Amino acid sequence: MMTNRRIQIGRYRLLNLLSRSRYTAVWLGEHVRLKKKVAVKILFSGEIQDIGEQHRTKRRFIREAGTLAQFDYPYIVQVFDSGEVDGWLYFVMEYAPYGSLARRHRPGKRLPLSKVRVYTSQVGRAIHYVHVRGFIHRDIKPQNIFLKTRNMVLLGDFGLVITFVAGTIPGCFGNLEGPVRIWHLSNGRVLPARQVTSTHLQLWSLNGSQVIALFRVLTRK
Ligand SMILES: Nc1ncnc2c1ncn2[C@@H]1O[C@H](COP(=O)(O)OP(=O)(O)OP(=O)(O)O)[C@@H](O)[C@H]1O
Ligand SMILES: [Mg+2]
Repeated sequence: MMTNRRIQIGRYRLLNLLSRSRYTAVWLGEHVRLKKKVAVKILFSGEIQDIGEQHRTKRRFIREAGTLAQFDYPYIVQVFDSGEVDGWLYFVMEYAPYGSLARRHRPGKRLPLSKVRVYTSQVGRAIHYVHVRGFIHRDIKPQNIFLKTRNMVLLGDFGLVITFVAGTIPGCFGNLEGPVRIWHLSNGRVLPARQVTSTHLQLWSLNGSQVIALFRVLTRK
């Protein structure tokens, strides 16, 4: 991975660490030949002690890249490449130079209505695009909405994505990897995942999560 004292993974030189969480890191990278700037997400699965958990985390990571590869939409982050080097899984995506909404809009600052309108509309369209293809993002929040330009969002972090069959109560809720999550609905009610129907899902997908994410951006709570 180290070449000429520069860190490189695959064909990408890693320039700047953008974010580090428990088992993943996101770097600003650059294609060694094309010099194109990208974001590289790397999984440190070796840091996970439990072998079962390690496999599950790897599967989720591969699924995240694979899911993104199925999408082609202006407001969803594009994936360009994925691979494994020395046991490190990684994937390469479109770089959002303005960072996440959470970073861009710090607590205590009120957003202009025009901006709110732009974000709401674009995130809503992205969620709808994902939803009609049978996927649920499950982690809509300002940290997972990136800015490609000042006025253009990219929905990212599909690490918790699941699929469901439209028009049914999603059976996949029974087999969720990780803890059962509580689903927030737009009318303020909260239901355990098991009771959620596809109607709720539509509400949730098109209203609830968006409202909650935007509420957080707007109020920075
Ligand atoms: N394509 C990108 N362009 C620019 N910054 C990005 C990109 N992808 C991720 N980031 C930055 O890295 C952070 C973490 O990315 P992401 O949410 O995909 O990773 P994660 O492993 O799920 O981390 P977390 O547990 O913090 O959610 C984002 O909040 C954002 O600041
Ligand atoms: Mg995230």
